[in-house]
Amino acid sequence: MSRKLLVAGARVIDPASGLDAVADILVEDGRIVRVAPGQKAPDAERVDAAGLVAAPGLVDIHVHLREPGREDKETIFSGTQAAAAGGFTSICPMPNTNPICDSSTVVNYLRAVTERDGHVRVFPIAAVTRGQEGKEITEFGDLAHFGAVAFSDDGRPVANAEIMRRALEYTAMLGRPILNHAEIPELVADGVAHAGDRAARMGLRGVPAAAESACVARDIELAADTGGHVHICHVSTERACELIADAKARGVRVTAEATPHHLVLTDEMIEGFNTFARVAPPLRGEADRAALREALRSGVIDCVATDHAPHTEIEKELPFDQAPPGMIGLDFAFQLLYTELVETGFLPLPLLIDRMSRCAARVLGLEGGTLREGGPADIVLLDLSGETRIERRSVFSKSFNTPLRGRVLRSRVARTIVGGRTVFADGKIVSKAFA
Ligand code: DOR
Ligand code: ZN
Repeated sequence: MSRKLLVAGARVIDPASGLDAVADILVEDGRIVRVAPGQKAPDAERVDAAGLVAAPGLVDIHVHLREPGREDKETIFSGTQAAAAGGFTSICPMPNTNPICDSSTVVNYLRAVTERDGHVRVFPIAAVTRGQEGKEITEFGDLAHFGAVAFSDDGRPVANAEIMRRALEYTAMLGRPILNHAEIPELVADGVAHAGDRAARMGLRGVPAAAESACVARDIELAADTGGHVHICHVSTERACELIADAKARGVRVTAEATPHHLVLTDEMIEGFNTFARVAPPLRGEADRAALREALRSGVIDCVATDHAPHTEIEKELPFDQAPPGMIGLDFAFQLLYTELVETGFLPLPLLIDRMSRCAARVLGLEGGTLREGGPADIVLLDLSGETRIERRSVFSKSFNTPLRGRVLRSRVARTIVGGRTVFADGKIVSKAFA
């Protein structure tokens, strides 16, 4: 028996087709059958979406789910709930778990746990080097065969240039990107904040902008030399944006992401030694933030990725230079960017949706990110007149490390649909995606 769903009367925004109009979305057996007004399907489950925006389910190509190894911080169960609550239907966990995702055994394990616990689709990213130690390249072909969609040593850069060159050479043959956490380790040293007046006054060691831009320049040269695809994670500096723009103009295979926190916050947030605002790369100054926003609008930055990085309260209570870097983001990334970039008139809503769905999927060649007929019925319904409070009880992540706690954001995720199945609606988790 076929399973039908009719999402009726929403303002449908599908950047892939340029659609922005009131229409119905008819879904059958997990796939989109038709997007058009006036659909009749008496035998379908009906979702009245009048007054809501219907868009492709959001795609996040950079998250940390901490399973296996640090299930006290996050699990595939809790992290995919946070994703569903934030309107994401596909997410890609980084391999810096314990054990590290550097073998097909771990990739298979993640896939099995996702089948059992996942509330959204999970596409694992595997390590570039064994144990993320930067020495020995992993079995890219094997890892890709078992479902790794990309390779990254995130948390750390691929420091050795010759390893990076070889990694790009091999992955070019597989058509998969290397996602680099681009920072020159010697320039980061024990820096913990943006190198500038504030860090100096607070007595914190700085991370210069060149720590990032010098590594981005190297990565671009190696991508150009090998024909490989390098993706720059969490870009934080104006200079990196300039280098990426220039490389793209020359036809180098480079893509890039920006996080909601680098797009919205500056290093002002670390005042009072607020460890919730410690991230790697660090929050930077006004000029860098403005350049990132421009780059996201122009497409120099391809997409938004949250770098959702859960940590325990106890660890975040350590002194600033000892607290682990990272903040959560999955639960409210859309609402935050809607409030800060769309409501302020900087980005049109369809462009924000595009950067958070289709453009992200495209970096990794994932199937989602559009409402095309025949494609997977991964859909988010957004209530733009609603609001989202960032509170412990409204966040599904196991961790609550964010300097945005207490904020009230414009808009709300009304419903998240994965493969035609509602996984989240009206503040509550409804169902897992597969089990
Ligand atoms: O802030 C960060 N947190 N940056 C990273 O690169 C790693 C991440 C984590 O795993 O906590
Ligand atoms: Zn990183």
